[in-house]
Amino acid sequence: MVDTMDPLMAFLSLLALYPGLAAATPSCPQNVNISGGSFTLSNGWAPGSVLTYSCPLGRYAYPAATRLCKSNGQWQTPRSTRQTKAVCKPVRCPAPVTFENGMYTPRLGSYPVGGNLSFECEDGFTLRGSPVRQCRPNGMWDGETAVCDNGAGYCPNPGISVGVVRTGSRFDLGDKVRYRCSSNLVLTGSSERECQDDGVWSGTEPICRQPYSYDFPEDVAPALGTSLSHLLGATNPTQKKKENVGRKIQIQRSGHLNLYLLLDASQSVSEKDFGIFKNSAILMVDRVREEPTRGGLAAPTVSLCFLLFLRISLKAHLVQEVTPDCMHAMQ
Ligand SMILES: *[C@@H]1O[C@H](CO)[C@@H](O)[C@H](O)[C@H]1NC(C)=O
Ligand SMILES: *[C@@H]1O[C@H](CO)[C@@H](O)[C@H](O)[C@H]1NC(C)=O
Repeated sequence: MVDTMDPLMAFLSLLALYPGLAAATPSCPQNVNISGGSFTLSNGWAPGSVLTYSCPLGRYAYPAATRLCKSNGQWQTPRSTRQTKAVCKPVRCPAPVTFENGMYTPRLGSYPVGGNLSFECEDGFTLRGSPVRQCRPNGMWDGETAVCDNGAGYCPNPGISVGVVRTGSRFDLGDKVRYRCSSNLVLTGSSERECQDDGVWSGTEPICRQPYSYDFPEDVAPALGTSLSHLLGATNPTQKKKENVGRKIQIQRSGHLNLYLLLDASQSVSEKDFGIFKNSAILMVDRVREEPTRGGLAAPTVSLCFLLFLRISLKAHLVQEVTPDCMHAMQ
């Protein structure tokens, strides 16, 4: 009898034997502990839930900072690696690829947090920028790019920031220089700059950063601060303007987007409203992160950092909930 039962019948009788099977929704395995860190889940062990790892300052979650529980009840695994056991690895700062007209010490493949990099110029060249730079716990060097310049160009020597490969070594009016990053570093800033009439290079200095590096709020706050009044004006819902304040951001498939969300946690904002704002921000980031993966192509890396706009001390639990998101980049 069993030998002749067709597969559908067999399945239906299994359901009758184990009624729990029909209702069971898959849930992802719970063996996701990270050594040296902790994790949070956006929706428990259910499909769609996002697992977010947190590591102490100076460490980052490897191989990925976040994992999605897929509809089949399996955790998404990063394509680049077979390693599934998560660990908090020490953050390292990138090494210079080249340094023109001078030398740097020590020469390492990458640098530990707290490590220093010293620059010296050859005779006839003057050092601009920081002669000594220290590796910060976010994987970024402090100070400014050291440049050995002899002032021969119309524009100053734009230098070669750490981890950057530059093509173009003429600095006269209209000359262009191009930049790319060595190995698997991610470029932010201008990939091409031109020496302009006013003796200034167009664009902004490119920086090559580790994919897991992130900005500290104090790095971003000055940039946001200058445009904050403008932003607040543009988003004030009581101020009825006809103009469309929407902006479009285009990210390359392999690009990198840093989203900075400034949450107003001052006294005039109730805890409930703060919660609504925080959840909207999380939803927005999830949407941005999901969107480009649909074609099965590599998604841009999206980092999320909440910056608190504080006028009074915030209730302790709110701070605790928010700050872990600021301490790492999500992938
Ligand atoms: C994960 O860590 C927690 C807390 O440290 C512990 O209670 C739990 O047993 C661990 N789970 C696994 C599967 O290792
Ligand atoms: C790097 O330089 C700073 C400031 O000069 C110093 O305090 C620190 O000890 C140095 N770090 C190392 C690893 O030598």
